[in-house]
Amino acid sequence: MKRSPEMLDVARLALEGKPSDVRLYLAKLVRKARKEDPEYAAQLEELLKAQPSRSNGVMRRSQHQHQDPGLSQKEEPSLLREVRVSTDQEPLLDKALESQLQQVLLERRCSEKLEEKGLRPASSAIFQGPPGVGKSMSANWLARKLDLPLYILDLTAVMSSLLGKSGSNLRSVLDFARSHPCVLFLDEIDAIAKRRSDESDVGELKRLVNILLQEIEDWPHKGLLIAATNHPELVDPALWRRFDMDVTFTLPSDENVRKAIIEFLGSDAQDFSHVIDFLVDSQRGESYSNIKRTINKLRKHKHIDPEGFESAIFSYLIPDVEELSRQERISFAVKLVREFSFPKQRAAKLLGVSRDTIRKKIAENQS
Ligand SMILES: Nc1ncnc2c1ncn2[C@@H]1O[C@H](COP(=O)(O)OP(=O)(O)O)[C@@H](O)[C@H]1O
Ligand SMILES: [Mg+2]
Repeated sequence: MKRSPEMLDVARLALEGKPSDVRLYLAKLVRKARKEDPEYAAQLEELLKAQPSRSNGVMRRSQHQHQDPGLSQKEEPSLLREVRVSTDQEPLLDKALESQLQQVLLERRCSEKLEEKGLRPASSAIFQGPPGVGKSMSANWLARKLDLPLYILDLTAVMSSLLGKSGSNLRSVLDFARSHPCVLFLDEIDAIAKRRSDESDVGELKRLVNILLQEIEDWPHKGLLIAATNHPELVDPALWRRFDMDVTFTLPSDENVRKAIIEFLGSDAQDFSHVIDFLVDSQRGESYSNIKRTINKLRKHKHIDPEGFESAIFSYLIPDVEELSRQERISFAVKLVREFSFPKQRAAKLLGVSRDTIRKKIAENQS
């Protein structure tokens, strides 16, 4: 029998119970063997493809987190995380954005027709937009719609994990993702660009960007590569151009703020119906994730203290009610009554002014 160091490595990884590291390692071997022994490389590659990696561990899967924390801390840091979402939550999207994402699905469905004409369905996209507006959620949603596993690559981990080896680490991850249809999500891709100003690892970062440049363009069209950034201005324009699609996420429109509030209120929507206009007004300009946090807080208030939750809404949304001047409190009460159809009595109580004052003020404004 021929002795090979690779065999030893594969055996060690397999016996350590790290099937996904085995997979990563094999993907590396395929790359190496392509030049020296293309037939062997093809056979290996076939094996990888024939055994899709639905259950594997290069990635930390969510259930691993339930293990004894002492144990999991000793595990090597992984670069990839497989995410599986059981919910069928749909992101709220503006029309233009939704049609862009639907386009991805549509091109997949028509891929044969497209390929006959020498066209390829989009296989890469870059998502830009502020935090908390659904970039990760949409990557998730796409993976679910395409019925593909979703892997998230933490680029900061790639860089810090094995210093000086980040290039080959990134390559292994990309090879791994190429070896079977999946969605690979490169979150915070600007992490590469951002650190460019730091002289010490310029060479290393350049190498990473170059690897990505090579890989994005001919990403397998059965898979999907998605990069995301909150800082588009930091991303290398050469990299940007390589993506098939450029998708911009924005803060929710007024219409979507309302939809989000109602969705996040869930079964409590009815009990909040009289303050919905007020909530929409107060959440304008916030991200979906901020809106969700606020709504969850208010719902908890409601269930813990059903009597006092209305004042809780106000003290939460207008934390400085106490510090408002009398004039300010009066005009706020008037606003609640006029714009949000609040009963005068309630507005009066919340803001500590008399009903008469409110009534007079409204009459004054009307005359
Ligand atoms: N478009 C959206 N529709 C519904 N909920 C959203 C949306 N965007 C964000 N959220 C909520 O905020 C959370 C965080 O959003 P995420 O997709 O991680 O934002 P991003 O990746 O853009 O920073 C989501 O899990 C979801 O609860
Ligand atoms: Mg995100």
